[in-house]
Amino acid sequence: MSRLSFTTFVCDCSLQQGFGCAILVVDMDIEIIHENKKRFLDLLLLADESEAMIDKYLERGEMFALYDDGLKSICVVTGESPDTCELKNIATYEKWHGMGYGSRLIQYISEFYKGKYRSMIVGTGDVPSGRCFYEKNGFSLSHRISNFFTDNYDHPMFEDGIQLVDMIYLKKEL
Ligand SMILES: CC(C)(COP(=O)(O)OP(=O)(O)OC[C@H]1O[C@@H](n2cnc3c(N)ncnc32)[C@H](O)[C@@H]1OP(=O)(O)O)[C@@H](O)C(=O)NCCC(=O)NCCS
Repeated sequence: MSRLSFTTFVCDCSLQQGFGCAILVVDMDIEIIHENKKRFLDLLLLADESEAMIDKYLERGEMFALYDDGLKSICVVTGESPDTCELKNIATYEKWHGMGYGSRLIQYISEFYKGKYRSMIVGTGDVPSGRCFYEKNGFSLSHRISNFFTDNYDHPMFEDGIQLVDMIYLKKEL
């Protein structure tokens, strides 16, 4: 198990007293998880509702867990070719959405894989929230697989009230 600590600055608006946000100095840890990855299944299922699909990439993938006074987020990255790795799963506990943990993980893995791969891809449903999250973190639209969700799942899937039809891939040069 590798554990790396770093200090970051967090804007905590709950502490504001009419003068804008308070800046807190927070120590976070990102751990690379080598064993017993299934113990994070509750988080993995937030991003991928099919345990059977998760099983296809979990063991061959590298898993990263972000701790900040307890577990907050995880992600899994696989090597797909000598040049390209893929972010297969990223999730933050719902209570902690919007606090920057997902973006911090993406910054971390982008640095981690720089020099090992030329680019990182990620596939997601074509909904604005997911797309914005990745674009905010340096990804841009690469290609689209038409009807992926309607062809591969036996029931309609929805995110943010929108039915998922196409899978979009976004790409980031490392
Ligand atoms: C997508 C996800 C990992 C982002 O994690 P996070 O720790 O909230 O990430 P950050 O705080 O760094 O960024 C939040 C941004 O994510 C975007 N976002 C995407 N889905 C979101 C959701 N369900 N809730 C809140 N924000 C979401 C928002 O645009 C937000 O942008 P903003 O900060 O400009 O408002 C998290 O929302 C999540 O776990 N979602 C469920 C699992 C999932 O669907 N994963 C695959 C994503 S396509």
